[in-house]
Amino acid sequence: MSAVSKLPDLDVGEARWSDFIAAVRPQLTPATRFTERELLGPKTTMRVGGPARVYAEPAGTEDLRQLLLEAGRRQLPVLMLGRGSNLLVPDEGVDGLVINLGHENWQKFEPLADGRVRVGAGLRLKNLCGLAIKAGLQGFEFLEGIPGNVGGALRMNAGAMGGWMFDVVEEVELISRQGEVRVMKKAEMHVDYRHCAELHDAIALGAVLKPAASADATDIRRQLDVYQKKRVESQPREPSAGCIFKNPPGNSAGRLIDEAGLKGERVGDAEVSTVHANFIVNCGHATSADIIGLVRKIRARVKSAKGVDLEPEVLLYGKEWKDIL
Ligand code: EPU
Repeated sequence: MSAVSKLPDLDVGEARWSDFIAAVRPQLTPATRFTERELLGPKTTMRVGGPARVYAEPAGTEDLRQLLLEAGRRQLPVLMLGRGSNLLVPDEGVDGLVINLGHENWQKFEPLADGRVRVGAGLRLKNLCGLAIKAGLQGFEFLEGIPGNVGGALRMNAGAMGGWMFDVVEEVELISRQGEVRVMKKAEMHVDYRHCAELHDAIALGAVLKPAASADATDIRRQLDVYQKKRVESQPREPSAGCIFKNPPGNSAGRLIDEAGLKGERVGDAEVSTVHANFIVNCGHATSADIIGLVRKIRARVKSAKGVDLEPEVLLYGKEWKDIL
């Protein structure tokens, strides 16, 4: 009797998903986008990867909370998707609820009286820089070329041109997986190179940013131009996920890979960029398996030529690199 009533794992998973969908859909406002088996590849800068079992773009905090609570009740995996710039989505997709704060309600840019600015988690860094220029706020220029939004940049403590996202953060508003909203001051948070401990589980809703100084818009524009020129000259234009490995302490992953003679190395349509060796570019129809194969090849070659273990910076969506490398 018990053998007959026990369903295979796959069915149990599917039953939990249908139960979740039936419970949460009626609670969401019409402005929230909620779909099944949404393809994630086109939402990433690498342009690779399969579908999300369930995908949602909540229009506000209440809808987001309902999604988190109903998923939590059924112990369903929840993954955040930002601008899709620092991650690799597996070819088979993810058996999870993928949440994207892409709705315009998360794109707030609200200058505050004392020169600070309140921004929403869904605001793109490029737009943040443009709006800051108009408002005469200096200190955000280094973020201009990072293809991310505020939420992702906080989660990863994104950086470029010698600056880190948390350099300009005063406080972060976040929501826990249990749906509790709170504000944390930067000093209470544990932030490191490409890492913010508090945003491992909790989700950033927005932040108050404090620019370094205020200046004339033409000076800011000049600094932006310098950064843009450096980026265009030193980084590839083809689809990529940004730098694929973290820089080892005191060293440069790009230089190590270059010196190991790997520029131009390929697996399928995935190629070590000939412009900057710490980028894997998608030359056409690369798959996630191609990219993972190339990551393995690079790590093995750099280990044998240089004695250094490179650690991926790009997140492997829904999985852990250590389990597959
Ligand atoms: N180099 C080479 N060969 C290469 C690439 C680089 O010899 O193919 C050398 C360069 O000549 C330079 C050194 O390596 O002497 C460092 O290169 P670069 O100035 O390009 O900086 P990076 O350390 O490779 C970091 C960030 C980038 C960020 C740039 C610019 C990491 C892993 N990378 O790159 O961030 O845009 O600085 O500020 O921290 C990212 O995190 O996704 C990313 C792109």
